[in-house]
Amino acid sequence: MAKSTARPSSRSALEQIQSPVPGLIIERPDFGGPFPEHIAVIMDGNGRWAQEQSLRRVFGHKEGIHSVREITTECAKMGVKSLTLYAFSVENWKRPRHEVAYLMRLLQRFLVDERPTLMKNGVRLKGLGRLADLPEQALAELRRTEVLTAENSGMLLRLALSYGGRSEIADALRSIAVQVQQGALDPAQIDEETLRQYLYDPHTPDPDLLIRTAGELRVSNFLLWQISYSELYVARECWPDFRAKHLRAALADYARRVRKFGSLSKGSQAAAGAEKSKVRLAWRRGSSQ
Ligand code: FPP
Repeated sequence: MAKSTARPSSRSALEQIQSPVPGLIIERPDFGGPFPEHIAVIMDGNGRWAQEQSLRRVFGHKEGIHSVREITTECAKMGVKSLTLYAFSVENWKRPRHEVAYLMRLLQRFLVDERPTLMKNGVRLKGLGRLADLPEQALAELRRTEVLTAENSGMLLRLALSYGGRSEIADALRSIAVQVQQGALDPAQIDEETLRQYLYDPHTPDPDLLIRTAGELRVSNFLLWQISYSELYVARECWPDFRAKHLRAALADYARRVRKFGSLSKGSQAAAGAEKSKVRLAWRRGSSQ
């Protein structure tokens, strides 16, 4: 994406970036630091939100759809490359039957209703998880939306559905075992990259930022392999209250993070270099005495 001239706004400078999506102008506030290419979100607190309003839990899920729409649109307009939303976990099948049925109907309706917005914003939608577990009609609408949006050149929206991080790794291991059994894969050659190739979506880079709403400090079996080096951000708000301004707060926080991937930051590397020279000098002095 080519950067063009910055344009000041009343609140903070807005950077205009050329979008690959025809007619879409990417306008991104200047957060003063790095911007994540891939954001993953654990949308938590729908039930609590509803209970706080003296409503039944399912109304929290219904209201949560507004946040899904706003956050997806905001991310697309700011030029986020991938957004992964934890919409339904493998563990969620254990919820009361009426809640599961409600969530599946909501999903089905969302997949139909959002098509014009996804097309307008150039969003490509993909399901991620044990999708064969989904009710037939929901799966059919998911496939239709995937096909409709497949050629879109903007943001990738991944909906994690019947998803579990442990199941994903178990599914990958099963496929690897089959390859080994058939003699197509040498166990000695299996490394981290091999395992990655057998995950549900090996080509999308790992999330840079993982947001969780409703204040819980857990990763809840979400993208266990992929979040090894993601930056974590926990918002107090329940998902139905989490809107564009809360996303911008998360992005401003991310811009201040220093990512080291187990190595050293640039400043620390320079300091380590100077330290190394001092140690060498001291060593030479010591050995010449
Ligand atoms: C967690 O809240 C949320 C879920 C289990 C489902 C998330 C679903 C939505 C936001 C709506 C559907 C989304 C799409 C994309 C169709 P919770 O019920 O665990 O809340 P609690 O912890 O307060 O009980």
